[in-house]
Amino acid sequence: MKLLFVIFFVTFIALSSAFVARNSLIDGNEIQTIFTNIEDFKEKYPNAKIIPMDYHLKADATRSYTLGVRQTGDTVVANTSNKNSWPVAQNVTTTLTYPSSGGSGAFLTYILINCEQSSNIGQAYVTYGGIHQHFIQIVIDTRITTYFNYAAFFYGIK
Ligand SMILES: *[C@@H]1O[C@H](CO)[C@@H](O)[C@H](O)[C@H]1NC(C)=O
Ligand SMILES: *[C@@H]1O[C@H](CO)[C@@H](O)[C@H](O)[C@H]1NC(C)=O
Repeated sequence: MKLLFVIFFVTFIALSSAFVARNSLIDGNEIQTIFTNIEDFKEKYPNAKIIPMDYHLKADATRSYTLGVRQTGDTVVANTSNKNSWPVAQNVTTTLTYPSSGGSGAFLTYILINCEQSSNIGQAYVTYGGIHQHFIQIVIDTRITTYFNYAAFFYGIK
């Protein structure tokens, strides 16, 4: 039992380092996706406001996080999606930043993030900026999951 635990732990560390190294900038839109860790994030930005997003559970562990409301004249100003899976359940933190280059983007009205995961534990937070502002950072904290798929849509007025 002890041996099994040690192997699990080492596997976890190995997977985590591979995971943290992943840092993708998706072409064709303005959302930067980086993988980090919510505890590291809080340590690095102790004064960041951390506002939970609303979420709606759909079938099983499928959920959608939302923020704000659609407004006349808004459009999708940025969207991104990704799929990941692991042989061993992970705690996964995904950070979405708009605009990816920093600075100022469209006037944001509504955010929708559809997520699929194997567990039902998770929460998304706004950690910087927000609705009715021109920039936002969202951290999605997903626990004990063997996969994490998401599609995020940022609506705004240019
Ligand atoms: C953005 O959304 C469009 C429309 O749903 C989709 O075709 C496209 O693949 C999405 N892009 C990314 C990077 O998810
Ligand atoms: C993963 O998340 C679970 C549930 O919140 C927690 O009990 C566990 O300690 C976390 N594991 C790691 C390695 O952070």
